[in-house]
Amino acid sequence: MTELYKISSLGYGYDWGKTKVPVLKGVTLSVPQNSFVCLVGPSGSGKTTLLNLLGLLDQPHAGKIEFLGRDVSALGENDLQSMRLADLGFVFQAFYLIPTLSALENTTYFLGPLGLSKKEALARGEETLAKLGLFEHRHKRPGELSGGQRQRVAIARALAKRPKVILADEPTANLDRATSETIIGVFKDLQKKEGVSFIFSTHDTHLVSYAETLFTLRDGLLEKGAST
Ligand SMILES: Nc1ncnc2c1ncn2[C@@H]1O[C@H](COP(=O)(O)OP(=O)(O)OP(=O)(O)O)[C@@H](O)[C@H]1O
Ligand SMILES: [Mg+2]
Repeated sequence: MTELYKISSLGYGYDWGKTKVPVLKGVTLSVPQNSFVCLVGPSGSGKTTLLNLLGLLDQPHAGKIEFLGRDVSALGENDLQSMRLADLGFVFQAFYLIPTLSALENTTYFLGPLGLSKKEALARGEETLAKLGLFEHRHKRPGELSGGQRQRVAIARALAKRPKVILADEPTANLDRATSETIIGVFKDLQKKEGVSFIFSTHDTHLVSYAETLFTLRDGLLEKGAST
């Protein structure tokens, strides 16, 4: 089967005045389909930066990303957009929910463009929110929800798409232990039943314990396993 990701010598830096501050200095990584991968590393080590590259939201400054067997740098904006829509789900560290839409409308936002009918989208949205314990809050807007509830709506929006991979940036950062357990259970279930892969960053040692593969980002490089 085609690898989900094949990444070699990835480099990325941010402009800081006239200098470029390197964050990723040659990240090499291979992720098969149906994976459950955890990415750890100190704050500022580049986890969000790497997830943005894996999500095809940024282009690397060096190196190569192959996603589902395709060299991302050779893809045009149309191909990138359709891959972001159909193949990738993203749970952002800052959620990026649409404030004027309800939890349910946020959850189903991409389902129309993915070809689901209104009825199918509604059923999928409600089912997903119910699994995350948010059914009774489905008509509330993000401003009327707690931080942890907003985080779960962001998770629901990614899950409802049933993409090939969900990239989740600290998906349990605002959640208590019991709710985190529920979320992890839903992730694992989707992996098992639908073959959806998960790549998530976290500082939560409990979440780390569920990882099938663990990578540590440190000093711009990625190591397999926990850092010592
Ligand atoms: N837009 C930006 N402009 C300049 N520097 C940035 C920008 N975004 C991130 N950085 C820098 O890049 C480095 C990596 O940031 P990143 O957000 O990827 O870290 P992280 O591992 O996700 O951290 P955390 O665990 O706190 O979320 C940090 O030193 C940060 O200051
Ligand atoms: Mg981050």
